[in-house]
Amino acid sequence: MQTIEEFKNVYLITEQDIENLMFAKGLMEKHQEDFISKFYDYLLRFKDTPNFLPDEETISRHKEKVKFWFIRLFEGNYNEEYLRHLHKVGAVHVKIGLPCHYVNASMSFVRRYCFRILTDEFGCSTHRDAVVTSMDKIIDLNLDAMTISYHEEELRAYVLPRKLEYNLIEFARRFAFSVDILLLLVLMLTSLFVLGFVGYEIYSIGTGETNIETGILKILGTLLMIWAIGELLSAEIHHLRGGKFAVTAFLTLAIAAVIRKILIATLSTEKIADILTLGGIVLALGAVYWLIGHSEKS
Ligand code: HEM
Repeated sequence: MQTIEEFKNVYLITEQDIENLMFAKGLMEKHQEDFISKFYDYLLRFKDTPNFLPDEETISRHKEKVKFWFIRLFEGNYNEEYLRHLHKVGAVHVKIGLPCHYVNASMSFVRRYCFRILTDEFGCSTHRDAVVTSMDKIIDLNLDAMTISYHEEELRAYVLPRKLEYNLIEFARRFAFSVDILLLLVLMLTSLFVLGFVGYEIYSIGTGETNIETGILKILGTLLMIWAIGELLSAEIHHLRGGKFAVTAFLTLAIAAVIRKILIATLSTEKIADILTLGGIVLALGAVYWLIGHSEKS
């Protein structure tokens, strides 16, 4: 499953596009009611529409949801939750058996509607053209994410019974999400334990159980671990928001752990060979860290 960052990269959605879309939000909000009324005039042209939207209750529920979707196009917060929302909309359409070309056609209507509003407001100007380009990108992204469910549905027809496959994929999706949340909780808990350890070290120095030099080195080593756990937490949050998982966060943790060991080993003069070995490991980890960072950049 692609992440929102991958979608943004593929559709070349830049910070400037996001700014353009957010700029258009006020204008589109002003036209929200007009939009939904024209959108529905258009939907009612499809001969099958009454089969899908059979009564007033369903229609008014759908109108509210489409209005919400429409305004979200211009909110700029295109995150993983946004992508999940689009997948869900697609899945609902698939579930009711709505033909994909109705979704494509109505999206094309939305595109034309937005372009017309922009032309009326800004005339033929470079500013209008810039916003139109950004709008094109976000509408394409929406269409792509919403119609993925149709392709999945086609595949499913060849593999497992529809309901079983749907439930299995849903279960796997939720399971993966729960594992990420669990990881986040364990990391937070671990950093609390490590903080407790710092407290204990300070207490040991205070009571004279540990001498000051040893205590300070141990505290510094432990703080290094907290910093590395912080890195891991940020990487996990980034991952939950749809970013790629940063392997370098694990390397940072490993480097921090070895440096901590070196700090502790330096307290004993007999452990020169150990310190040299640990130094070699830090060097090797550092080289791998650099290589990964370098290859990601290029
Ligand atoms: C640009 C095209 C469209 C957009 C953005 C859109 C948006 C949405 C959204 C946001 C939902 C709610 C999904 C959820 O429950 O989370 C939905 C559901 C639904 N859509 Fe659409 N839709 C589009 C096209 C159509 C068309 C062409 C039809 C039928 C002719 C249709 C019929 C329905 C129906 C029947 C539901 C379920 C409503 C319910 O029972 O709550 N949609 N759609």
